[in-house]
Amino acid sequence: MTAVTIEIENEIAIVTVDNPPVNALGHAVRVGLAEAVAKTDANDAVQAVVLIAAGRTFMAGADISEFGKPLAEPGLPDVVLMIEGARKPWVAAIHGTALGGGLEVALGCHYRVVDPKAKLGVPEVHLGLIPGAGGTVRLPRVVPVAKAAEMVATGKPIGAKDAAACGLANAVAKGDLRADAVTFAQEIAGKDLPVALVDRDPVAPLDPEAWGTVAGKLVAKARGQNSVIRGVDAVADAVRLDGPAALENERAIFIELMEDPQSAALRHVFFAERSVSKVAAIKGVAPRDLRHVGVIGGGTMGAGICVALLLAGLSVTMIERDNDALAAGQKRVADTLSASVKRGLISEDKRTALLGMFVGDFVYDALDTVDLVIEAVFEDMDVKKQVFAELDRVTKPEAVLATNTSYLDVNEIAASVKDPSRVIGLHFFSPAHVMKLLEIVRPDELADDVLATGFALGKMLRKISVPAGVCDGFIGNRILTAYRRECDYMVEDGAAPEEVDAAMKAYGFPMGIFAMQDMAGLDIGWAARKRRAPTRDPNERYVRIADRICELGRFGQKTGSGWFNYPDGSRRGEPDPIVEAIIIEEAAASGVTRRSFSAEEIIERILGAMVSEGEAILAEGIAQSAEAIDVVMINGYGFPRHKGGPMFAAKQG
Ligand code: 3HC
Ligand code: NAI
Repeated sequence: MTAVTIEIENEIAIVTVDNPPVNALGHAVRVGLAEAVAKTDANDAVQAVVLIAAGRTFMAGADISEFGKPLAEPGLPDVVLMIEGARKPWVAAIHGTALGGGLEVALGCHYRVVDPKAKLGVPEVHLGLIPGAGGTVRLPRVVPVAKAAEMVATGKPIGAKDAAACGLANAVAKGDLRADAVTFAQEIAGKDLPVALVDRDPVAPLDPEAWGTVAGKLVAKARGQNSVIRGVDAVADAVRLDGPAALENERAIFIELMEDPQSAALRHVFFAERSVSKVAAIKGVAPRDLRHVGVIGGGTMGAGICVALLLAGLSVTMIERDNDALAAGQKRVADTLSASVKRGLISEDKRTALLGMFVGDFVYDALDTVDLVIEAVFEDMDVKKQVFAELDRVTKPEAVLATNTSYLDVNEIAASVKDPSRVIGLHFFSPAHVMKLLEIVRPDELADDVLATGFALGKMLRKISVPAGVCDGFIGNRILTAYRRECDYMVEDGAAPEEVDAAMKAYGFPMGIFAMQDMAGLDIGWAARKRRAPTRDPNERYVRIADRICELGRFGQKTGSGWFNYPDGSRRGEPDPIVEAIIIEEAAASGVTRRSFSAEEIIERILGAMVSEGEAILAEGIAQSAEAIDVVMINGYGFPRHKGGPMFAAKQG
């Protein structure tokens, strides 16, 4: 297969890139593009060139698998310069995603025609990089500087309409993209070439004060990620310098970041997130049909799961205990969808349509036709078993039965129904319609096509699905339990909860473990500890501080206090002398001499606890790989992505 082909139709050359799956700009594509410039320049029969890509997307970036290897010429920056310097006008015809190097190639083209569904962006920041083929230089010369900085620093792609409004797209296709791009090319053929972007002045540069505000806001969100900070620097430099000098400067920053351990970590995560869902047992196994799903429980998780399912186009029936609980659950769903309308994520019409696919009941018989049921009732084995007995009675025999339990034994739940092969764990994270992670828990008797159905659902919901074995807490909550215990030890030994939280934030977590527990509610963890109490090793160190906080009815933000105090409904916790007194009493009762902890020691201890539990999980086969653990901790528990996950970070030393 040739990666780049040229056809000539009525004096327009159509240059097609065909490098599945995402037309990444690997060596063969770069060589093909350089040759296409030379050939079309030399061919007098060609008046203009349309650059288009085959398959599902325009070029989605440089080939990430080539990173870290010696560069094979021509490099991408040179290819973009060749296109920009071509004698014939080049028109990029963009569908799918023009990302990173893909968008940079499109910026080298003299014009851009985009499909209405196309997305255009420079996501290099997520790989710990900045655009390295002129993106930071050409973008602020075609779109307003603040827009360019935002695109570079956030990596968020923009849609076709936005691209046309800000000047990035010259036209949005109305019919067939290729035909519209050819028509566009015929219209501009023979006219003077526009001035190359690299030779232009920036679009309406901001005055220093306004720039300071824009840059300050973007950098404030960096959480220590170098590529965000350096991306903003690169755009500022690109505006200050002339084009060629700015290109050199961008290259220098790109190379600096390529050698930054953060980029190695982020590239590790990129491939890890794509490999973790590959499970040998279901290769070639067809999933069961999924159209109508039942959800049991309309609380925090049940309602969030309903929203996620509705947004994926599935019909949903919610079951609650009684009319009042059902009304409350349905209201939660309706309110969440309203919030999505307010945030501009869906239209009011879409909300109405989704609510049309959503019904509720308190009689289980309403589930007689569902393809899948997800149980999200209280975390109590007896309650769950009662629910599964009802599901056994009313659902069709091939329906998949899933539990969203956080910690309970999915084998025991499976054994409570006639056909355990249809029981699976689908562990969502809160808020379920937002969080990307889904742990797919595999009990012993699970049928392969039920497992395949779990992964098919994960795909429909656009989640990262990670397979996990049955144990107390699966992958994520088990590691959470281990490092929370370590944090409890440190608090009893002398570190204040706010010091532990501050150390975690400085490392890159969005919030510390104690603030997180207060947000999630302390009661679920307390119930789990009480459940484990009878089997706990009496010789194991046990810190009672959290239990004593719960005994006071302090369950976190929802009760106004927990580890911290939340006066007047505030979401920002303040250290509370009551908690400090409990800590000091418990330390004295345990005979501990308290001492101070540095932020480095706190992080070392947390990482150590995560890694040793991670190793145990791997040895027991609960996780398929160290990558799976990293992906879970990053996407479910706020572990900083640019550190690569605990297992990766530990290897880096
Ligand atoms: N290089 C190499 N492989 C890539 C790739 C890339 N840029 N982008 C995707 N792939 C691979 C994936 O690893 C995956 O391989 P697999 O099937 O063997 O696991 C396959 O393509 C399909 O990818 P997804 O599963 O992610 O497919 P989706 O349809 O869900 O998403 C996508 C498609 C939106 C294009 C997504 O793959 C994506 O976001 N890719 C990365 C885009 C990116 O970061 N581009 C910038 C690269 S850096 C750069 O361009 C530097 C330049 O400035 C010099
Ligand atoms: P919740 O207390 O907010 O909601 C539980 C709901 O189940 C309540 O609305 C209750 O009325 C309903 N319910 C109880 N018994 C029922 C029955 N027999 N039939 C129908 N409905 C019944 O609890 P939450 O937080 O939503 O948790 C639910 C499950 O999800 C638990 O197993 C929990 O461990 C798990 N989970 C919770 C997460 C969280 O962050 N809250 C995250 C992941 C899993």
